[in-house]
Amino acid sequence: MSFPKERPRRLRKSERLRAMVRETTLTPANLIYPLFVAPGEGVRKEIASLPGCHHLSVDQVAREAEVVEKLGIGGVILFGLPQAKDPVGSEGYADDGVVQKAIRAIRGVCKELLVVTDVCLCEYTSHGHCGVVEQGEVQNDPTLELLSRMALSHARAGAHVVAPSDMMDGRVGAIREALDSAGFGALPILAYAAKYASSFYGPFREAADSAPQFGDRRGYQMDPANLREALREVRLDVEEGADIVMVKPALPYLDVIRAVAESSDRPVAAYNVSGEYAMVKAAAAKGWIDEDRMMREILTSIRRAGADVILTYHAKDFARRA
Ligand code: PBG
Repeated sequence: MSFPKERPRRLRKSERLRAMVRETTLTPANLIYPLFVAPGEGVRKEIASLPGCHHLSVDQVAREAEVVEKLGIGGVILFGLPQAKDPVGSEGYADDGVVQKAIRAIRGVCKELLVVTDVCLCEYTSHGHCGVVEQGEVQNDPTLELLSRMALSHARAGAHVVAPSDMMDGRVGAIREALDSAGFGALPILAYAAKYASSFYGPFREAADSAPQFGDRRGYQMDPANLREALREVRLDVEEGADIVMVKPALPYLDVIRAVAESSDRPVAAYNVSGEYAMVKAAAAKGWIDEDRMMREILTSIRRAGADVILTYHAKDFARRA
């Protein structure tokens, strides 16, 4: 059958009709909102590179989490800015580190909100790399021990999910084993499985003060040109015990999200990263785009590509207008 009998426009006539046949839906429950925990008290400072997002001290982060919970957003993911950095990122796995304190504070006031933690050393190391550095090289195996310690300290503080983002080989297995042997066998791992060495992390590195002090991350994060390698990373992480697999960034990698969703039977997450958010905010500030419509279109396309869960700085804006 074809035109004039076939007329796809018939189903676009009204919003009720369009809504009835809509293939992709997105609710705040699918979203995770990133929060940046800073030292001190009473700190609520807007992050210049991420308009609308703030550096928050532990007391303020709990208040913010309550707002996020009330908006129906599924969860938050926590990043920490330590008081002091050192070569092995000690504050990252200290029981009284900012993130560990923030987890307890949030769990004290929020009964439903999921608390996810980013497990990575780069915010805590003086050199800004995601692992232990020896002879100018990021060492894989010695890093696993520190990542496991960090995940365990988050678990002890009450995290609901841990999310390793460092891209060391074998870290999911190491963390799984550490959690299991400490009695946290029921705690899920959201693995940043296919994380690319991307220029889209620029604004985050300013927000988390985590830019590498020498070199770059191409020795551990993935080459943006590769798709089949993403499937291999996903397979390895699942074999090691990942419960949810993530693709990051999201918008420039929709094909990867689709391929992962089709090849894996695990839930898929996608990280709509800082650079993707900052581009929308900057163009909106210039009056060049309709921010609300563009945000919806971007988040819907990430979901249409196959993401079950989206980590996004737009989460509050989306939920407010959902
Ligand atoms: C830590 C980490 C990064 C992001 C999430 N976890 C930065 C990086 O790898 O350089 C990026 C998030 C964003 O850009 O929004 N390794």
